Amino acid sequence: MNIKTLLIEKANAAMHAAGIPEGTNPAVTQSTRPQFGDYQINGAMGAAKALKTNPRELAQKIIDNLDVADLAAKTEIAGPGFINIHLKPEFLAASLEAANQDSKLGVAEHVNPHKVVVDYSSPNLAKEMHVGHLRSTIIGDAVVRALEFRGDTVIRQNHMGDWGTQFGMLIAHLEDLLEQGVDLEKVALADLESFYRDAKKRFDEEEGFADKARDYVVKLQGGDAHCKKLWQMFIDTSVKHSEEVYARLNVTLGRDDIKAESAYNDRLQGVIELLKEKGIAVEDQGAQVVFLDELANKDGEPSVFIVQKSGGGFLYSTTDLAACDYRSNELDVDRILIFVDARQGLHFNQVEITARKAGLLKDKTSYEPSLFGTMMGDDGKPFKTRTGGTVKLADLLEEAVSRAADKIADRTAELSEEERSEIARKVGIGAVKYADLSKHRTSDYIFNWDTMLSFEGATAPYLQYAYTRVSGIFRKAGVDSANLAGSINIVEPQEKALALKLLQLEEVLDLMISEATPHVLCGYLYELASLYMTFYEACPILKDDVAADVRESRLLLCNLVAKSLRTGLDLLGIEVMEQM
Ligand code: ARG
Repeated sequence: MNIKTLLIEKANAAMHAAGIPEGTNPAVTQSTRPQFGDYQINGAMGAAKALKTNPRELAQKIIDNLDVADLAAKTEIAGPGFINIHLKPEFLAASLEAANQDSKLGVAEHVNPHKVVVDYSSPNLAKEMHVGHLRSTIIGDAVVRALEFRGDTVIRQNHMGDWGTQFGMLIAHLEDLLEQGVDLEKVALADLESFYRDAKKRFDEEEGFADKARDYVVKLQGGDAHCKKLWQMFIDTSVKHSEEVYARLNVTLGRDDIKAESAYNDRLQGVIELLKEKGIAVEDQGAQVVFLDELANKDGEPSVFIVQKSGGGFLYSTTDLAACDYRSNELDVDRILIFVDARQGLHFNQVEITARKAGLLKDKTSYEPSLFGTMMGDDGKPFKTRTGGTVKLADLLEEAVSRAADKIADRTAELSEEERSEIARKVGIGAVKYADLSKHRTSDYIFNWDTMLSFEGATAPYLQYAYTRVSGIFRKAGVDSANLAGSINIVEPQEKALALKLLQLEEVLDLMISEATPHVLCGYLYELASLYMTFYEACPILKDDVAADVRESRLLLCNLVAKSLRTGLDLLGIEVMEQM
């Protein structure tokens, strides 16, 4: 159920029937104040301007043709030509009851599902996952869950960086350690960061090592079995590290979703041939370069996009062009979403323009680099450890859980040790995720433990607590929510406000899916929880003097609130609990 879409359709039909030519699309919004009705149609003003007539008269014509008898109690013209729609309480009640019966809470499956590649997380395997990959991982995963909930077909692709010159240095170092009999998992690769540092130090300082490393890159890229084997050992351990982080984060990425950079190796030469053949890439100082006038600077100099190095080596850019070809021409997808740091914006513009020219990306496929801002420390600079190093994601998550444990200690004193640590885990991880997901994707944000772990304001702990309160009502009432039998009756204004919010879920998910912005769902859940609190204060449920049918109606509302919070948080990858 999506009241907004329904009203847009009806408004369109009415405008058509009123003789208004196509082209002016009515906007429909939820009203900000009860006196403006529940929804407003705003189409008459634009149309009147185009037709040079009186907007209020035109609004009346639209109303005369508006077929809303089954959902609206009243329609009226307001101000310069808005049409206010007051919905019928029975319509709201029936819609809520249908949502309560439905496993997807009334959110319909797309009639024309899209096939979508979502490229997210995508860490570089030379190093351990650091906070820079948090945003890509969790924003991408939330969008994936929402797309699937809505019925789209999603192909997750973890575009891991597992190829490139630094691997020569890493496997040369690995080889030496293996010869010394060092245990690979427990010692050599237990800490990828220091492994990388050690290798780099030898590369910079040790005689002969750099040559060996360079030699190994060439061998590896030429398919040498020994180098390939060492490389594979390194990759396996590194992938295992990422998988631990995914499990901790409650992220749905699995091993089958890995489509790493190296997977495109066989296609790279072909991409370059094609670009040369079509005259898109030209030789410049030995390298293959695409000059893009579309992205020229203010002096009119074209943007330079290097697709092959002068020695013949391929680049990040070459791989992304090959990925376009695979995703668009072979998988034949409608959309490609790539969750990546905003600093890579130019790169993806260059990829798209080049790929479209070359036919590596067909018109049907929309290419959507979904850029995100930087996570900042309290000092307003990119988040770092106290000593200025990059923060490992695994360490950050461990700290979140231990801080959450302190925070909830007195609330959960009477629970068992095991229950307490389970709650701390859900609260800590949930807090980090919600704090991030609730910010607009494209903005930078300041990472702050106290705000994200607070039980007040828009936070995971607030929402998780709200959920325990709603679901706790059924325990208190001694009622199994599955056995609620009565019907819903919308009478009080607080009930109506809650009802309208409950019926907005599909609209919110559509916005989140089309713009790849989980913050709209975060905001929605916070508003829902707040409206529930207001409703709970104003509308008694379990008091003795509440009539049985009123109580049943309100419990039905509570049940839908609980399910909506749980489902919504689950789409964000945040877990709930029954008590805290
Ligand atoms: N590995 C890259 C990084 O860590 C992100 C890859 C994003 N996806 C892509 N198709 N380039 O910055």
